Amino acid sequence: MEVIGRILGENLTELWAWVEALALSPTAIRSRYAPNRRVKCFGVASNLQSISKGRARLFRTDDPGEWVRSLGDRLLPDWHSLLVCGGDTTIHWHRDHGHFEGIAVMVNLGEAFYFERDYEQGEVQHHLTNGLVVRINTKLLHKAIPISAPRYNLTFRHIKPEFLPYIDETAAQLSLPGIQSNS
Ligand SMILES: [Fe+2]
Repeated sequence: MEVIGRILGENLTELWAWVEALALSPTAIRSRYAPNRRVKCFGVASNLQSISKGRARLFRTDDPGEWVRSLGDRLLPDWHSLLVCGGDTTIHWHRDHGHFEGIAVMVNLGEAFYFERDYEQGEVQHHLTNGLVVRINTKLLHKAIPISAPRYNLTFRHIKPEFLPYIDETAAQLSLPGIQSNS
C-alpha cells in the first residue's frame, strides 16, 4: 500500500456529502467476504461472481457526475469502475475479483485498519485516516476493519482489457440479479 494523497478541507466535506446522499444497497452486489457492507457502483459494475463457472458479468452503471469522475481521473487515469462501500465495511482476507487489474486507488472516509499479507513482508497493518488516498495492490491478500462509524471507502479500478468487450451496456444497475426493492 502506498499513500498517494489526502483529500482536505472543502473537498473532503463535499465528498462526505456526496457519499452520504447515495442510496447504498446491501444486495446490489454481494461479496461473501464483506457480508454486511452496503454499496453503489459507478461506471462499470462487476457482479463479483465466478469467472471459471461462467457466472461473472460486467454491467454499465451510473455516471458519478463530473466532480467524482474527474477526482477519479486524477487518482487513477481512465478508471472504469468505482465502488462506494458503507455500512459495516469489514471485509475479510481476499484478493479482488479477476475482472479487475491489480492496482487500484482507494479513498478512505472515516477511519479503518487495512491489512495486507505477502510472502516477503508477512502481515502489515496500515491505519487509514479520514481523507487518505492510497494505491493498493488488490492481488495481495488484504482485509479491512472499520474503526469509526460511519466509515466509507471509494475504490477506483481498471477492468482488465480482455473483459472490456463483454460489458453489458444496456443493463441498469437496478436490474442486477439479487437486488431487492427495499428503498
Ligand atoms: Fe479488496
